[in-house]
Amino acid sequence: MLLLTIETSCDETAAAVVRDGRTVLSSIVATQVKDHAIYGGVVPEIASRKHLETIPVVIDEALRKASVTLDAIEGVAVTQGPGLAGALLVGTAVAKAIAYARRLPIVGVNHIEGHLLAIFLEREVAFPFVALAVSGGHTHLYRVDGIGRYTTLGQTLDDAAGEAFDKVAKLLGLPYPGGVQIDRLAVEGDPTRITFPRPLLHDGSFNFSFSGLKTAVLNHVRKNPVQDDGQMLRDLCASFQRAACDVLVAKTLLAAETEGIGRVVVAGGVACNSALRRDMAREAAERGIELAIPSPPLCSDNAAMLAVPGDFYLSRGISDGLALDALVNWPLDTIRKRVEA
Ligand code: KG4
Ligand code: ZN
Repeated sequence: MLLLTIETSCDETAAAVVRDGRTVLSSIVATQVKDHAIYGGVVPEIASRKHLETIPVVIDEALRKASVTLDAIEGVAVTQGPGLAGALLVGTAVAKAIAYARRLPIVGVNHIEGHLLAIFLEREVAFPFVALAVSGGHTHLYRVDGIGRYTTLGQTLDDAAGEAFDKVAKLLGLPYPGGVQIDRLAVEGDPTRITFPRPLLHDGSFNFSFSGLKTAVLNHVRKNPVQDDGQMLRDLCASFQRAACDVLVAKTLLAAETEGIGRVVVAGGVACNSALRRDMAREAAERGIELAIPSPPLCSDNAAMLAVPGDFYLSRGISDGLALDALVNWPLDTIRKRVEA
């Protein structure tokens, strides 16, 4: 099927045209980073308004780049949740309008499901696998037995990892969004300079906690004020990043070993982090675990990733009607009903 996919769950307005859930003909992402940067984080009202302004242009561009018109599109997949209510409403309303006007089947896709399956746009991965979804809003470990068959193994008890990166960057005076700034500065930093806590590292669960780590950085900075752009700043970034990555890597590989699964997928915006990619690759190789991480543009928010589940569902006749509504919270485990019905 040739699908048009639409993503507006947070601060990226995105559309893509994808054939058979695998071949990306176009993937357009318009970021709102500049609109939110002066506030130090995403302002939901601004996000909705920007989506409204940008979505027609982004969809036009996706069709143009794919050298197709709406006449060629055979189905629509849209992020239904989780995300910001007003932001999701823009994408779902536009997707429903197109589906209605063109008499096309439409399916609402879970944003995290899109992240977990984005890897299939680059390579196949055999089921089952253990997946770490690590983004601004999520730090979850899943067992994935097939498309639609997700079991939550663990999750953060407080902040998501991306949120911790962004908050630590903010308290270090770095611009928003901070994750990528920490990554950049850490390259020239000494990760052993400061020993920050590795929360829940040895508790045997697959849960995470990042708010204590963030507070530890805050306390350290209060006692040892950071010079503008000195080596201390780089060492702080590297030391924080090492602590966060240690926990993410250890818990993910422990989950794979405990489940007896030799395959791991890492997905979401924080999967762009160079230290996480490197450390996960090294530790997985040591344990003989196969690791798959999408290239960075497919880790951060995009619409192409929605086509993997979108095509799977629509080509099996699983679709939503025009009553499809935004879901601010949507646990992945509940999707099983859809494929087992
Ligand atoms: O998946 P994503 O694009 O949006 C959400 O669904 O949340 O993830 C965004 C998160 C932000 O917290 C951002 O700071 C973080 O991913 N991020 C990074 C890096 N690039 C993006 N965190 C650490 N290192 C990076 N290189
Ligand atoms: Zn995301």
